[in-house]
Amino acid sequence: VKILFASTSEPAGRWIPALQAALPDDRFVLEPAPDVEVALVAQPPPRTFERLPHLKFIQSLWMGVDQLLANPALPRRVPIARLLDPGMIAAMTETVLAHVLDWHRLHFRYREQQAQRLWKPLPQVLAGERTIGLLGIGELGTAVGRALCARGFRVLGWSRRGKQVDGIECITDRNEVLARSDLLVCMLPLTPQTRRILNAQAFSQMPEGACLINVARGAHVVERDLVVALDSGWLTHAYLDVFENEPLDPESPLWGNPRVTITPHVAALTEPRTALPKVVENIERVRRGEAPEGLVDRVAGY
Ligand SMILES: NC(=O)c1ccc[n+]([C@@H]2O[C@H](COP(=O)([O-])OP(=O)(O)OC[C@H]3O[C@@H](n4cnc5c(N)ncnc54)[C@H](OP(=O)(O)O)[C@@H]3O)[C@@H](O)[C@H]2O)c1
Repeated sequence: VKILFASTSEPAGRWIPALQAALPDDRFVLEPAPDVEVALVAQPPPRTFERLPHLKFIQSLWMGVDQLLANPALPRRVPIARLLDPGMIAAMTETVLAHVLDWHRLHFRYREQQAQRLWKPLPQVLAGERTIGLLGIGELGTAVGRALCARGFRVLGWSRRGKQVDGIECITDRNEVLARSDLLVCMLPLTPQTRRILNAQAFSQMPEGACLINVARGAHVVERDLVVALDSGWLTHAYLDVFENEPLDPESPLWGNPRVTITPHVAALTEPRTALPKVVENIERVRRGEAPEGLVDRVAGY
């Protein structure tokens, strides 16, 4: 089978030699051609899908497929799988734990106090006294939720269809999650239903002094509303990995806001060392006529 690797974000050199070694009978190419049957994509160059008339399967090299699904040239009937990479899931769990502990152990406050040369111990809160709400309990949310439960936090998980996960209180009522979460972690896919979901109304429903972690997509958050909620003191801190416009504009007021911690969309990076076996397995599944893992539901949009 001829397999196209098309990405402006993932370096081909980190993938192709290992892919070719794992699938020696297949042929990997970097330019679209009429006989390509499988495409491995992450931010493919313009005019990629237009030149693939016999495509049978698309494997995303990212977990989120919002950009891919928005591509007007995406062929309608070709199945798409998103990447389910154990390395990324582990990385996301570590990132969210790091932010949760920074907030829970009040390190964000002590950094502010250090800047003022202020020695002032603050009252300690126990993990069991904190309720953490997860927006989205899919691949990432479930792993993060389990790690938080293991640390003793109370964990709520919000999803579209409801779910059962040991230790996580799963709910489908968004108002309830917002009202009960001292700390809210957004791990939703970006769809028309979830775009701008974290807005002034949502922040006002959260308890005073709450915290937000967004590691999903920038467009989930209305940045201006967030700044108002932070500057008024209603929210104490926001950890933001993703932004509506990336890279974040050097002029953005978020950079200088002491209540915001910024990372440059690195909460979980695609990791060829752990992703490659999953990509190979999916190619083999499709070759055998089976459904790939991580099959995207185009109607739901994720
Ligand atoms: N910052 C980074 O570095 C980074 C890295 C990887 C991924 N991401 C982002 O993380 C997102 C989530 O990844 P994932 O693999 O965990 O996705 P997933 O497995 O598809 O899980 C998505 C979760 O969101 C829920 N959901 C979707 N639409 C909803 C709605 N309208 N209302 C309520 N719940 C809704 C789903 O509910 P159901 O269970 O009912 O379907 C599911 O629980 C990706 O789409 C991507 O944007 C970011």
